[in-house]
Amino acid sequence: MRSIINEKNLINKKILLRLDLNVPINRGKITDTTRIDKILPTLNFLIKEKAKIIILSHVGRPKGKTDIELSLEPIRTELQNKLKKKVKLITENIKELKSKDFLNEYNEDIFILENIRFYSEEEQNDNKFAEHLSSLGDIYVNDAFSCSHRAHASICEIPKFLPSFSGLQLDLEVNALNKITSEITRPITCIIGGSKISTKINVIKNLIPKFDNIIIVGGMANNFIEYFGNSVGKSIKEKNCDKIVEEIISLSKKEKCKIIYPEDVIVSKDLNGSPQKQELSKILSDEMILDIGPKTIEKITNIIDDSKTILWNGPAGYFENPNFAYGSIQIAKKIVENNKANKIFSVAGGGDTVSLLNNLKAVNEFNFVSTAGGAFLEYLEGKNLPGITALN
Ligand code: 3PG
Repeated sequence: MRSIINEKNLINKKILLRLDLNVPINRGKITDTTRIDKILPTLNFLIKEKAKIIILSHVGRPKGKTDIELSLEPIRTELQNKLKKKVKLITENIKELKSKDFLNEYNEDIFILENIRFYSEEEQNDNKFAEHLSSLGDIYVNDAFSCSHRAHASICEIPKFLPSFSGLQLDLEVNALNKITSEITRPITCIIGGSKISTKINVIKNLIPKFDNIIIVGGMANNFIEYFGNSVGKSIKEKNCDKIVEEIISLSKKEKCKIIYPEDVIVSKDLNGSPQKQELSKILSDEMILDIGPKTIEKITNIIDDSKTILWNGPAGYFENPNFAYGSIQIAKKIVENNKANKIFSVAGGGDTVSLLNNLKAVNEFNFVSTAGGAFLEYLEGKNLPGITALN
């Protein structure tokens, strides 16, 4: 893997830069800018080298359709403010775009193409689409470690057509995760939560042999709660997961890895409702699980006390509403407390987790914080990420 930082003669070169600008946006306002802040060094490097920058990124999961709510416009504004340079959003149909047209038409040196996932060809990993994208630049740079587990056109097909490099943030993430995986000390506990259940549930099986405890919270825990005979009401869950849950349970016994899932929960009738403690056996059909309960918090904090390494990916509840953030905050506080006392080595990853830690001003109290969620877990699994393989 060659890093762009070692390249000379980038003057006027058109750099096709894949970033992960998938930041949380609420009614047009970015609620956490970490992923933008982290890629500023790469952008500043390319600006210093006088390159022409053409940014590719996605936000959310528009599934191949234009969705104005998922436009990159708020990100363009934020980038422009942070870089103190004009950034132009190109909204024309990417498939009909020629870089010489927009480079000649506008004076800016930094362009950002509208959400790449507005085109179904992106997630289909379409070779022709990638070839067309590659025609827009001279050099491709992947600085989106957090998307590198996706076999998508802008991640792993473009490198087939252009000289390709890693960006500064991707280098940093890969080096830090390599160090962590080679220097880890037991007992190791992995806390997995969040709402992207489909991405993570299949990862757990492969993590079992590497960990002493796997604590399952967030949306995925609902599949476990249901598997053990409880109703989860209106809670989010993944369909047809009983087989994988069964495999996880049986493999964990064989590998002597404890699987911990919530013993009690906080429910509400809707996302804006008020929190109510609930036993697992009493969840009503019109209730949804939105956080872990007090018994679960106590169990998790005890396990953290007994661990030497903690890896955390995904909040324990719907933390965007402070009513349901308590469980995640208690986990964060316990990790920070033990980290400060030098009792543990702690790593956190994932957009939502980073956003939670930012709110708590706790990012610097962890040994390493990765912006990646799914990619972070798959890297820990020991999998080859398609985006990294493509660069190699
Ligand atoms: C992330 O937020 O982890 C990345 O942007 C990838 O998003 P995805 O899970 O929708 O592919």
